[in-house]
Amino acid sequence: MRTFQDLHVVVTGATGELGGAVAALLLERGARCHLPVRSAAKLDPALARAHVVSGIDLADEAGVTAFYRDLPELWASIHCAGAFAYTPIEAASGADLDKMLAVNARSAFLCAREAARVLRAGAHGGRIVNVVSRQALEPRRGAGLVPYTMSKAAVAALTQALAEELAPERIGVNAVAPSILDTPANRAAMPNADVSKWISLAEVAEVMLFLASPDCTASGTLAQVYGRA
Ligand SMILES: NC(=O)c1ccc[n+]([C@@H]2O[C@H](COP(=O)([O-])OP(=O)(O)OC[C@H]3O[C@@H](n4cnc5c(N)ncnc54)[C@H](OP(=O)(O)O)[C@@H]3O)[C@@H](O)[C@H]2O)c1
Repeated sequence: MRTFQDLHVVVTGATGELGGAVAALLLERGARCHLPVRSAAKLDPALARAHVVSGIDLADEAGVTAFYRDLPELWASIHCAGAFAYTPIEAASGADLDKMLAVNARSAFLCAREAARVLRAGAHGGRIVNVVSRQALEPRRGAGLVPYTMSKAAVAALTQALAEELAPERIGVNAVAPSILDTPANRAAMPNADVSKWISLAEVAEVMLFLASPDCTASGTLAQVYGRA
């Protein structure tokens, strides 16, 4: 078990399933969590010990910049915010594409850029962890999901390009690529699915904590975390 005792870590998407699991695990391991959220009312009460900043739309450049500017010395920034959409190509509009790019790619880009700026100022290295998806690594699985797949592929490219750029400063940049997660929302959406084939939130969160830890010296990794599906 890796300790994050007193390390300052940003987690985005903490009102969501994966972000909530990651933030809870970090708090359990001693981290000081900073959670930018749109609405604190949606946050699990178990995360009340964290530093919560509400009213942050992660696709808004000024809001993201202001959030990172006000943080204490940072060790890691973990970007779980995102969204999924099933959009067969004949029904997909330019606005659908823009929405996926904004919530998945633009948010990760803005957070990574601001995290890099803060981590560079600290001069002790640090970690950035993104979330892509299986479709980003295997786009042929993206049928019916073209805008989503495009947006996650952009996050994969962001991760590897930025890893090269920040390598001299000992800032690791990695991502997890989960297959379908075992979440209440997915269970509700697919009531007849065999959930034993899905990957648990706990397992994905554990991999993300390793990628965010001082123990991880890898960079530019897109870590597949797949269930049996
Ligand atoms: N679920 C899966 O099966 C699966 C599989 C592979 C990859 N992923 C990826 O894993 C990540 C987490 O998934 P999840 O299932 O935990 O999703 P989720 O439960 O829907 O949570 C999404 C989170 O992102 C936040 N968010 C979305 N847009 C935002 C914005 N513009 N500004 C600020 N916050 C924003 C949401 O905030 P609000 O509460 O304010 O909406 C929420 O906290 C996503 O990137 C997703 O694409 C998920």
